[in-house]
Amino acid sequence: MEHHKKYNVILADPPWKYNFARQIKDRPNKMQIVETHYPTMNLSELKNLNIESIIDKNCVLFLWVTSPKLDNGLELLKSWGFEYITSMVWDKINMGMGYWTRVQHEFILIGRRGKVSPPRLQRSSIINIKRFGHSKKPKEIYEIIEEMFPKLKKIELFAREKREGWDCFGNEVESDVQLIAKSKTQGVQK
Ligand SMILES: C[S@@+](CC[C@H](N)C(=O)[O-])C[C@H]1O[C@@H](n2cnc3c(N)ncnc32)[C@H](O)[C@@H]1O
Repeated sequence: MEHHKKYNVILADPPWKYNFARQIKDRPNKMQIVETHYPTMNLSELKNLNIESIIDKNCVLFLWVTSPKLDNGLELLKSWGFEYITSMVWDKINMGMGYWTRVQHEFILIGRRGKVSPPRLQRSSIINIKRFGHSKKPKEIYEIIEEMFPKLKKIELFAREKREGWDCFGNEVESDVQLIAKSKTQGVQK
């Protein structure tokens, strides 16, 4: 594994930790938590990742966040050294569960550091794709980013599958980079 790789585009879908569980339909005593699907990380563990070791001085970040994690998402984006630029929204077409609203969308926060010119080809900020599978994101996001920044070196963090033309990191894929905690008190490799 090479340790000196630096990327200009990062797509990250963090395993956000939630403080609530969801009741499973028709099973009153059964609660579902994200950890049923994969281990999660809290905000300080995510901030503590040594992102600096893999990003170029000129870099764009696409960061997936759900509505309850919007403020954490902005905080994380800034702590990783990016300036917030704009966002995109995934409209999942159908309503899901929720506490205050029946959630139908997710955000992709876009941040930049250093010099990255806006893409010449600009797409709509809304992706309309029906939801499918727990925490699975639509493939269209790759196509959009590839179209926006065809020549830049890309990596997906917390990937579940390898995509051609992209490097990846995650505990469910063969990672191309090692991303470790900055301070030893907060481990991130599980
Ligand atoms: C929200 S899911 C990513 C979903 C993915 N974008 C998709 O569309 O299928 C988060 C991923 O991060 C992984 N993960 C959790 N803790 C991790 C860690 N410490 N290091 C690497 N990956 C981790 C989870 O196992 C899960 O695959």
